[in-house]
Order: sequence, then C-alpha cells, then structure tokens
Amino acid sequence: MYEADKRLVARAAVEEIRSGMVVGLGTGSTVAELLPILAERVRDGLGIIAVATSEATARTARAAGIEIAAFDDRSMIDLTIDGVDEIDGSLRAIKGAGGALLREKVVATASLRMIAIGDASKCSPAIGRRPVPVG
Ligand code: A5P
Repeated sequence: MYEADKRLVARAAVEEIRSGMVVGLGTGSTVAELLPILAERVRDGLGIIAVATSEATARTARAAGIEIAAFDDRSMIDLTIDGVDEIDGSLRAIKGAGGALLREKVVATASLRMIAIGDASKCSPAIGRRPVPVG
C-alpha cells in the first residue's frame, strides 16, 4: 500500500544527493522503494558511497549496484535518508519501530543532514500510536 507515494517521496529525497557524498541509507519499505531509484542514478554516473542502517538495506543496495562501506570506515555522513514511523502536524516524528533503532540513531547522529520521508499513512494527530523497541 502507498507504494506510489513512497516512490514519490523517495525520488524527491534522491534529488538531494550529489556526487562525492557519503550517504546514509535507512531501513524499511520506504527506503526499499528508494534503492532502485538511487541505483539508477548511480548507473547514470552519480558517484557516492553509502552506509546502511541494516543488513537488509546493505544487501539490497549492493545487489542493485550501490557501494556500501562499513560504517566504521565512514564516521562522517553527508546526508542520511530514512523512513519515519509517525509524523505530526508540527513535523515531530518518531522512528525505530522496525527494529533498526540503534543503527539508525548512530547513523543519524553521524550525519550532517537527515531527510525523513514518509507517505500519508505516517501522519498522526499525536505521535505515539506505535510502540518503539528500545534496547
Ligand atoms: C526501522 O527501525 C524503522 O525506523 C523504519 O525506518 C520505519 O519504521 C519506516 O519503515 P517503513 O518505511 O517500512 O514504514
């Protein structure tokens, strides 16, 4: 559901990526829609190195031809793009319900900029509808 919306926001976020950047890639179904779009840009000559917030993202990205570095090698990230779980009218958002919270926080903290993307289903009058696993 919402795949077309996810592709739309993913495409807009990918537009922010420039050659030479280290890019953080999030986890989940929205980022899964982003990866083929980014891979197409890479095939067209966009030169980036990425780090992933989960093994699932790393596997899918590599299979699509996106170079994934070990996070330890890239402690400074120019731009991270990740999906949100909920977002309210004041643009307060919450993430982590997919179980990749720790790596997501580490990657987000190391990022100069982060773009959080989501489809209409993520809009919430008051965030907190979904439980977030905290370890
Ligand atoms: C992973 O821990 C989560 O934060 C996901 O990034 C978040 O739930 C967004 O996932 P979807 O894009 O699948 O909604």
